[in-house]
Amino acid sequence: MRESQADALVLFGATGDLAFKKIFPALQAMIKRDDLTVPVIGVARANRSLEAMRERIHESLEQFGGGVDEAAFAKLVKLFRLVDGDYQAPDTFVRLRRELGKAERPLHYLAIPPSLFASVIESLGKSGCAAGARVVVEKPFGRDLASAQALNRTLHTLFDESSIFRIDHYLGKESIQNLLYFRFANTFLEPIWNRNYIDHVQITMAERFGVEGRGSFYEETGALRDVVQNHLLQVVANLAMEPPINADGEALRDERVKVFKRMRPLTGATLVRGQFRGYRDEKGVAPESQVETFASLQVHLDSWRWDGVPFVIRAGKQLPVTATEVIVTLKRPPQNVFGESLTGPRNYVRFRLGPDQVAVAVGARAKVPGDKMVGNETELFVCHQGADEMGAYDRLIGDAMSGDPALFARQDGVEASWRVVDPVLTMHTPVYEYEPGTWGPKESQVLIAPFGGWSNPKEQK
Ligand code: BG6
Repeated sequence: MRESQADALVLFGATGDLAFKKIFPALQAMIKRDDLTVPVIGVARANRSLEAMRERIHESLEQFGGGVDEAAFAKLVKLFRLVDGDYQAPDTFVRLRRELGKAERPLHYLAIPPSLFASVIESLGKSGCAAGARVVVEKPFGRDLASAQALNRTLHTLFDESSIFRIDHYLGKESIQNLLYFRFANTFLEPIWNRNYIDHVQITMAERFGVEGRGSFYEETGALRDVVQNHLLQVVANLAMEPPINADGEALRDERVKVFKRMRPLTGATLVRGQFRGYRDEKGVAPESQVETFASLQVHLDSWRWDGVPFVIRAGKQLPVTATEVIVTLKRPPQNVFGESLTGPRNYVRFRLGPDQVAVAVGARAKVPGDKMVGNETELFVCHQGADEMGAYDRLIGDAMSGDPALFARQDGVEASWRVVDPVLTMHTPVYEYEPGTWGPKESQVLIAPFGGWSNPKEQK
């Protein structure tokens, strides 16, 4: 075991939704690869027996882990311990300390609501559970700049920045890794990857489903806080960043943060918000709710490379498909040599980021065989792969355990991205209603109309 490798994983919120849907399935995958051999200590205020907890893990793997691998499950059960107790009670932490035994470098995963962080962190300190430890926290990192700073102060009372791992699971996706690799492992892209050749960039994160019973969470969040400030601005950062000096964690994070710092703060004029019809009937949603389930916006980067190139983003629930896609559209050739009427798409690079497949494709024109010099649109696939070999959580938990920060959000980046969205969070711009199963309110066309309209991602076969 490497010196920096965690020697215990403590999972606060072991009976919660995140553990059920993402964390236990990730642990099964890690065990299958022999990447998890240390004790996993679940902490929960659930009044459950260890046996009941094992059943829950089994269910989680059945539903979200692609099925139960009995050998891996048996190993996970062997590694698993349970500390059942209230997060406010000092005794819970005394028992946790006892379970940690000789562990010198535990990783505490706080899969609990942020409102509990302060007291849990204080108790970790007082009980001696924080010595040599690292901590993992999940997005949302606050709900605006001020609360993100406050959350950070809480974390820093006990942990220094190098011991804090903030998960934005988009950074752990294979498709985002591939985007970064594709940009910097090739030479042909770099000469055109700038304002001289690129007309605009559009990013769509479409979800066919609604808020899925998370109405009260969503009321506090909305699309801007839920996926734009974090996931989609991270996608922009990976598309727009300068080459890092190397692939080390801090070098990559430095370049991403520079992109956030170059983003112009949003204004009401470059934002369209929408809400699907029926959202207000969801449990936990106010009858007059003004929360957006759809947002489209233009992001501008004040930089030498990107000046004047808009990044036009849209994200929404209850859209026609579930798909996340980036289209980088190039300018038209300077002359129409063959006299064709060219109204269709221009050359582009398309990154399919999910949900299940990863693709990079290039759109170009090619001649139709025959005596005339006329062509049509073709799309050349650079790569087209199936589902992630390694899920985002599985990759990220492994990295946090070995202390590699590359795929985690750093505090200066979190603050810089809140600075971008902060001005519109409290601005009461209109919320336009849209029909479920459509591409959001028609008003969102306004932002993209000057660039030829939205390109709608297709459902994966
Ligand atoms: C989460 C949001 O962070 O990301 C959800 O809270 C959203 O609302 C989800 O559905 C999307 O993640 P993925 O990996 O399914 O694209």
